[in-house]
Amino acid sequence: MRVTVSLIKADVGSYPGHVRVPKEIISSCNDYLTDNGTKKGLLIDFMVFNCGDDVELLMTHEKGVDSKEIHELAWNCFLEAAEIAKERGFYGAGQDLLKDAFSGNIRGMGPGIAEMSFEERKSEPLLVFACDKTSPSAFNLPMYRIFGDPFNTPGLVIDPKLNQGFRFEVMDIKENKKVILDLPEETYQLLALIGNYSRYSVKRVYRKDGEIAAVISTEKLSLIAGEYVGKDDPVAIVRAQSGFPAVGEVLEAFTIPHIVPGWMRGSHWGPLLPVSLKDARPTRFDGPPRIVGLGFQLRRGELYGPEDLFSDIAFQEIRRKAMEISDYLRRHGPFEPQRLPEEEMEYTNLPKVLEKLREKFEEL
Ligand code: F6R
Ligand code: MG
Ligand code: MG
Repeated sequence: MRVTVSLIKADVGSYPGHVRVPKEIISSCNDYLTDNGTKKGLLIDFMVFNCGDDVELLMTHEKGVDSKEIHELAWNCFLEAAEIAKERGFYGAGQDLLKDAFSGNIRGMGPGIAEMSFEERKSEPLLVFACDKTSPSAFNLPMYRIFGDPFNTPGLVIDPKLNQGFRFEVMDIKENKKVILDLPEETYQLLALIGNYSRYSVKRVYRKDGEIAAVISTEKLSLIAGEYVGKDDPVAIVRAQSGFPAVGEVLEAFTIPHIVPGWMRGSHWGPLLPVSLKDARPTRFDGPPRIVGLGFQLRRGELYGPEDLFSDIAFQEIRRKAMEISDYLRRHGPFEPQRLPEEEMEYTNLPKVLEKLREKFEEL
């Protein structure tokens, strides 16, 4: 059976401030997708969850990627939830719904989207990730580690099914272009690009036989809106086992914890904290940036799960380390490298502050 998994997310309102999605929004989305998705036979299955102030719609169906019906369902689901957020005065109500009328595809309208279609295997382990207070490039380093680095994924060396390597599709977010690079042959070229978080984002990973392995949402809110409207808070879908990296090889990539752009006002570097669903509520300094990981088995499009992967005790030490890094970075206050470099601050409110200062400058 050919199944499509669509993960579509938006910040349509939260409390208090940008901390978390209120239960009223989660239940509104659940009701909407039940009435208009599963009951109408449009969706096979779905799960609504949140990471911080972003509500995530995980949906399975047979309509393929970029389906107008599925995108419209998600858009209308967000619109209804945003109405509830407005009535109750939730913070940032409707924030990510940047366009007025739906025109066939949710791409470019504000929400983030990761979708993949594949022929379901006999047993299909599926991993889903969602971040808050960071940008799509937060997945660059983990994706390289999962699909390109034998120090993370021993299967690349010792499993003949992984031994041929993987193919990366990388987006140039500024120029709206993409490039395909094969690993391990073009490892250095890939790293030359994706080490630059402000411009390049891994969009998809394929096996060399063309089978899809991973997809990441890469929508840039600031480029759609022309100004800062919150970070893009990406999501990702990863297939695991039997010809793909094992579940544990995928999770191993989140154990550094690596430092990503975002955090307070989308203007700071901070460690990516792997957390359970219940801890997906960025508090300290509106963060630190966090990620949840959910594991499922897919059967004829039905989602069995979730397993809340980062709730495991094995991630406690990683979290402790992340908070130690946070303490150290926070001591830099408004100085780099806690604050992002100039180029990354372009879409924040900083240029408005600098503009006012300009007339005070004198020629030397
Ligand atoms: C980061 C984020 C928050 C806000 C901050 C200020 O992505 O959403 O850190 O930038 O709380 O928010 P406003 O400007 O809404 O008061
Ligand atoms: Mg928000
Ligand atoms: Mg968010």
